[in-house]
Amino acid sequence: MFLNVNLNENSYDIIIERNALTKFNQYVNLTGKVLILTDDGIPSTYVKTLLKQFTNCYVYVIKSGETSKNFTNFEKILSFLIEKNFTRTDALVALGGGVVGDLGGFVASCYMRGIDFYNIPSTLLAQVDSSIGGKTAINHMGVKNIIGSFYQPKKVIIDVELLKTLDERIFNSGLVEVIKMAATMNKELFNLIATTDDIARDIENIVTEALKLKKRVVEEDPKEKNLRKVLNFGHTIGHAIESLAKGKLYHGECVGLGMLYVSSKTVKTQILEVLKKYHLPTATIYKVDDLIKYIEHDKKMSGKKLSIIHVEEIGEFCIKTILTSQINELFVEV
Ligand SMILES: NC(=O)c1ccc[n+]([C@@H]2O[C@H](COP(=O)([O-])OP(=O)(O)OC[C@H]3O[C@@H](n4cnc5c(N)ncnc54)[C@H](O)[C@@H]3O)[C@@H](O)[C@H]2O)c1
Repeated sequence: MFLNVNLNENSYDIIIERNALTKFNQYVNLTGKVLILTDDGIPSTYVKTLLKQFTNCYVYVIKSGETSKNFTNFEKILSFLIEKNFTRTDALVALGGGVVGDLGGFVASCYMRGIDFYNIPSTLLAQVDSSIGGKTAINHMGVKNIIGSFYQPKKVIIDVELLKTLDERIFNSGLVEVIKMAATMNKELFNLIATTDDIARDIENIVTEALKLKKRVVEEDPKEKNLRKVLNFGHTIGHAIESLAKGKLYHGECVGLGMLYVSSKTVKTQILEVLKKYHLPTATIYKVDDLIKYIEHDKKMSGKKLSIIHVEEIGEFCIKTILTSQINELFVEV
């Protein structure tokens, strides 16, 4: 299955196929030097499968986890590329989750003002969300994604077989990003996730449908000016919970909870059912007032406006822009 992300001169294909990893170079035909960037939590068999396909290839392994998206790694990988005499006709391939993809994309965007970047996302979150849209970033001074660029990959290769080795909690946390897109834009997809009795069987279809939604959004709003805000459904409260939970909850788990605060009663019930089905958290110890206080402080909101995605009915959404003084009216207690 091919999807083309149409961004004029920066358009690229997404290839979705089981076992695509084994024939990666048939899709991309790389003949120059290749740097595979990966992390130490990704099964080494995947790296070996990829390595076999190139004659002039290096592997750079970072430690798994969010803290690896840092300046030191950014600098070290750039130094590595210089030491190995990479030129503008060479390429960087990211094999991993959102951490590897964000860091790899940023390095590729900066080395010699941009070398070709290919992404093989290996987590569900990366397959449906972070690998398309062109956002790259590292964290700095405790601020997430504060340094980065918009840089489109040359191709994204999606092999859902890679998801089989993923920890179930990480898989389910990634699924929240699909639930988020489905709840706002595609009722059928939401129903499929809610009713399937075999997610492993349906995952290729689910990933494809989610990608079609994300593709539509990024094509219409490549630089996050308006429509792309829909992808933030559940994120305002979700980020507050994530920060207050201090690492105890995964990002997707927090977004799942965050959606409950900005949905109608019926939608809230429907989302709760899905969260339960995938063993995701359905309640927090935080009161809505604490979360609001956190958001106000975090966004230094006094006198400012805040845009929130609200879902009244599954498959539809509206953007509500409110003033700080109205923030209490927006969120419903969960
Ligand atoms: N660029 C974007 O548009 C965008 C969007 C959403 C999130 N993000 C970023 O994505 C990051 C989170 O990504 P993530 O959730 O993929 O986490 P991650 O990259 O940290 O991966 C999670 C864990 O899964 C392991 N792993 C990855 N693939 C595996 C596989 N196939 N089998 C077994 N283990 C595997 C990794 O080693 C890691 O320990 C955050 O940094 C976030 O800011 C970026």
